[in-house]
Amino acid sequence: MSDGFSLSDALATSNNPTPGAPPPQGWPSWGNQPPAPGGFPAYPGPPGTYPGSPAAPGTYPGAPGPYPGPPGTYPGSPAAPGTYPGAPGPYPGAPGPYPGGPAGQGLYPGAPGKVPFELPLQAGLVPRMLITITGTVNPNPNRFSLDFKKGNDVAFHFNPRFKEDNRKVIVCNSMFLNNWGREERTALKFPFEAGKPFKLQILCEVDHFKVAVNDAHLLQYNFREKQLNEITKLCIAGDITLTSVMPTMI
Ligand code: GAL
Repeated sequence: MSDGFSLSDALATSNNPTPGAPPPQGWPSWGNQPPAPGGFPAYPGPPGTYPGSPAAPGTYPGAPGPYPGPPGTYPGSPAAPGTYPGAPGPYPGAPGPYPGGPAGQGLYPGAPGKVPFELPLQAGLVPRMLITITGTVNPNPNRFSLDFKKGNDVAFHFNPRFKEDNRKVIVCNSMFLNNWGREERTALKFPFEAGKPFKLQILCEVDHFKVAVNDAHLLQYNFREKQLNEITKLCIAGDITLTSVMPTMI
């Protein structure tokens, strides 16, 4: 179950901040999220400097964004910066077609909506990278998962299960050398519903991931794999249909 964690235990750890603590600066929309250890810098302006992100075409290459990948090499980024079609803004409310993707086919490589889906992260993860996934839970779902991968290892497995012993639970874990570690089941709620759309955001911080669903903080997961730059793939699978998958820097 929850590894013997009580709510008060959980809240007392550094990974689970004081209830009622003010939300940190720098987070769009997550009013209830806990502060990052060591503080989080002020929101520096609109996101979108992640190379290949459609947020702000004018800002790259040479943009001040901290993502370490060479501009223009993020898969799907436009060959020439000036050719990016449109500036739909940081949140994928109405992004344009994925540049380099099949014509007229939506937001990212491959057929829109289809899972499994793989998002290459050219230079790996980096603190302040935010991945926003929108989609819809399929009817009669069993489970879905996000896997942030370093080769075959899974640095972060985020796995909502709709029917585990007739209960809904979110399981987080890592897998090294084909062995799953200790499961974390600390989410205080289960925000996904059969047939309903969702927005899922994963923020890479300095020593943990933060996950929010529909603009509400859901959980944190401390890094077990610390070589962020080697976490170069996000795999999404299971009983959902995707609408968009968008990496940005905040
Ligand atoms: C296993 C399951 C895996 C993964 C893992 C997480 O039981 O087969 O897909 O979810 O749990 O601990």
